[in-house]
Amino acid sequence: MTKASDVFTLRNNNQVEVSFIARGGQITSIKVPDANGEIADVVIGYDTVEEALAGDTYFGAICGRYANRIVKGQFELNGQQYQLDTNNGPNHLHGGVDGFNLRTWEVEEVDLPQFAQAYKLSLVSPDGDQGYPGELTTIVTYGLTEDNELVIEYDAVSDKDTIINLTSHAYFNLDGAGIGTIANHQLTINADKFTPIDGEIGTVTGEIADVKDTAMNFITAKAIGEALNADCPQVKLVDGIDHNFVINGYDGMVRLAARLESPSSGRAMEVYTDQPGVQIYTGSHFDGTETGKQGKPIEKWAGVALETQIFPDSPNKAHFPEATLKAGEYYRHTCVYKFI
Ligand code: BGC
Repeated sequence: MTKASDVFTLRNNNQVEVSFIARGGQITSIKVPDANGEIADVVIGYDTVEEALAGDTYFGAICGRYANRIVKGQFELNGQQYQLDTNNGPNHLHGGVDGFNLRTWEVEEVDLPQFAQAYKLSLVSPDGDQGYPGELTTIVTYGLTEDNELVIEYDAVSDKDTIINLTSHAYFNLDGAGIGTIANHQLTINADKFTPIDGEIGTVTGEIADVKDTAMNFITAKAIGEALNADCPQVKLVDGIDHNFVINGYDGMVRLAARLESPSSGRAMEVYTDQPGVQIYTGSHFDGTETGKQGKPIEKWAGVALETQIFPDSPNKAHFPEATLKAGEYYRHTCVYKFI
């Protein structure tokens, strides 16, 4: 049996190291070299496992069963109304009060030829868990390749029709956790459209809007700070970016979602996924009161999360991608974080 505090590390031959704990499958560090071989830990978090267990449980965690917000925690499926936990004002966020980020996953090392090292994390969520129908069995594979890709594969199956949207909630800072904010990072998002939100609490309106002529335009690389400081109503609502972007050309195949680069360290990463959306969240709720890595306060905009996903509130928006998982069918989601 795996214990909540058990730590696992993936290594390759290029000095890349990814560590995670069993509780929430939380990725606690990703160490990558820059062009000069200088290693930095590029995810926000804590120095010790004890702090990680006591701290922000979304840091680097697997979020589910439905990552992001479901308005009022309600949805209808097969003519039946369901009420989920509400843990974000009147809404349901990241799977509820006791989401997958708080569960201890069973972890086992697996030998897969495409990876330098890989681990399989499994979890069985009972029927009715946080209000969701069906017993859901989830397997998440964390694999590290010799091309410096952290591949996250999500597989799940339910014994009843249900809804699902799993994601990973690591916040990246390519200069190293604790070193400034991500305002200087250049971001490119492969998205001509995004889903606007309607208030501080961040629920989507249902609109699919053009990024053109808004601060959300990252079609070509732009410093994130340019958007953070823009006089844009969508940015003002959440003091940053906390938005779902509609990945161009979605067809269920793995494609580029975003690219992040720090001009100061020269480190870059690309995000690939077979999902239709990516939530970009600039960590606007961090306020410096929490101590993170290297004993430094976790400041506003200290890191950026790139969460590949189905759109927020899809179960209540008929024109959004399908979030229903039929009994016995397989949910599969691939997310690749490639470090360059
Ligand atoms: C959401 C934010 C939320 C955060 C919690 C993000 O995925 O988009 O609105 O505050 O998770 O850690």
